[in-house]
Amino acid sequence: MALKKYHKKITTNTLNEMKSIGEKITMLTAYDFTLATIIDKAGVEVILVGDSASNVMAGHETTLPITLNEMIYHASSVVRATNRALVVVDLPFGTYQGNSKEALTSAIRIMKESGAHSVKIEGGEEIKESIDRILSAGIPVMGHLGLTPQSIYKFGTYNVRAKEEKEAKKLIKDAILLEKSGCFALVLEKVPADLAKKVAESISIPVIGIGAGNNVDGQVLVLHDMIGMTNEFNPRFLRRYLNLFDDITKAVGHYITDVKSKNFPNKNEQY
Ligand code: KIV
Repeated sequence: MALKKYHKKITTNTLNEMKSIGEKITMLTAYDFTLATIIDKAGVEVILVGDSASNVMAGHETTLPITLNEMIYHASSVVRATNRALVVVDLPFGTYQGNSKEALTSAIRIMKESGAHSVKIEGGEEIKESIDRILSAGIPVMGHLGLTPQSIYKFGTYNVRAKEEKEAKKLIKDAILLEKSGCFALVLEKVPADLAKKVAESISIPVIGIGAGNNVDGQVLVLHDMIGMTNEFNPRFLRRYLNLFDDITKAVGHYITDVKSKNFPNKNEQY
């Protein structure tokens, strides 16, 4: 299948079309204006303002502490930078599980206050009511199954999910339920590649994988991992395209040396 170039703004319909012609979807995270500007210009179709901002930006151990206000702050910075990509924002832990009314209020705040195009929420059947209510307000919803980091204390580890038949069966059932509910796409995190393939073949909405193999409709990575700004997170699924941790460390080292040796600033760098 020839690569089709999408010059216009990406919508949920574009992603559906891409799945139907077999063109892979690219998605990366961003939490700030500067990096979002770069990845939007570089051409990713989807920018995810992930609650991984809790780890990457704020240094928390899990995604649980990040608040709705903090997500809105990150999302509005990303939206200001974005001309083409579809911006998806994670509903943070505790803002949609309680009841569907609260879920809708949280989703509306994200859409109104950040200008984002859609929200993502973790889970299947357990949160169906919340999904239905958000969708009924005309807000596009992306699902997230497999390893759902907001449930880390239930899982106990970040290991691969759904290796056992019972969990795999529930995952397929949940994926079909999310499609039937009207979700426009689904993130599948850290599950066996064969299961991910089966899910992508079982539903017509795009399945975007992270640690879910190549037989899905697109891929997502955390940008800071993919460009090597972080260096302690090394799962098998991660491909690093840069090593910015080392490059920045070297650059800062040179700067320190230059300042201390009175080499910076020189005559051309002063007024
Ligand atoms: O928060 C996040 O960055 C995510 C991706 C890992 C899919 O949910």
